[in-house]
Amino acid sequence: MRISRSFFCFFAFISTAWLATPAFSGDFPSDFAVDPAVVNMTLEPKVVVNSGKLEWVPFSRDLTPWVSLSYEDKRPAARPRQVKLVEPLQGDPVRGRELAIARDKGYCIVCHQLPGEQWAGTVGALLLNFKKHNYPNELVFQQIFDSRVFNPISVMPPYGTFGILNEQEIRDLVAYLQSLD
Ligand code: HEC
Repeated sequence: MRISRSFFCFFAFISTAWLATPAFSGDFPSDFAVDPAVVNMTLEPKVVVNSGKLEWVPFSRDLTPWVSLSYEDKRPAARPRQVKLVEPLQGDPVRGRELAIARDKGYCIVCHQLPGEQWAGTVGALLLNFKKHNYPNELVFQQIFDSRVFNPISVMPPYGTFGILNEQEIRDLVAYLQSLD
């Protein structure tokens, strides 16, 4: 009786401690834009017009559960995941474009040039005229779901494996890219 009660107390303690511990236990790399006091923990910079200063404001999405590219971020990443796309694609290219631009979704333009974007990043390949490659949908789907299957040191976020985007959203992005001629 005594033993079982102390066992229960031990179990209750462990489970409470586990539940109360956030993914990264508040111990963030010094270069993370994080404020545990705001709802989503994550901050984004905003230019204060004509002041030469940046202001940090709450971001619409909590980015802290995902391993970042910070050298200080030593958390283990989920293993690369190979997936099989079941056709038909049934993606919405208009929605795909929105997802590619949205800061709290794909935000592909931070690295890739896409049509109509003036200030796109240059880390990733140009995605203009993407259709000309004639890549199978399955390949493009895998690249977005988890690019580490093709390149283990890819800096492109594994959108599917990390759960940043869901399967339908990735289908929409594939449909958008495949429509670019
Ligand atoms: C942090 C930078 C970064 C972000 C954000 C990013 N990518 Fe990439 N992407 C890359 C890099 C770098 C490559 C080159 C291959 C590699 O390293 O995986 C690449 C390759 C690709 C390719 C293959 C291109 C080719 O012709 O071989 C596609 C398609 C692609 N990205 C789509 C996307 C989409 C769609 C998004 C947004 C949902 C996105 N990427 C977000 C960096 C990024």
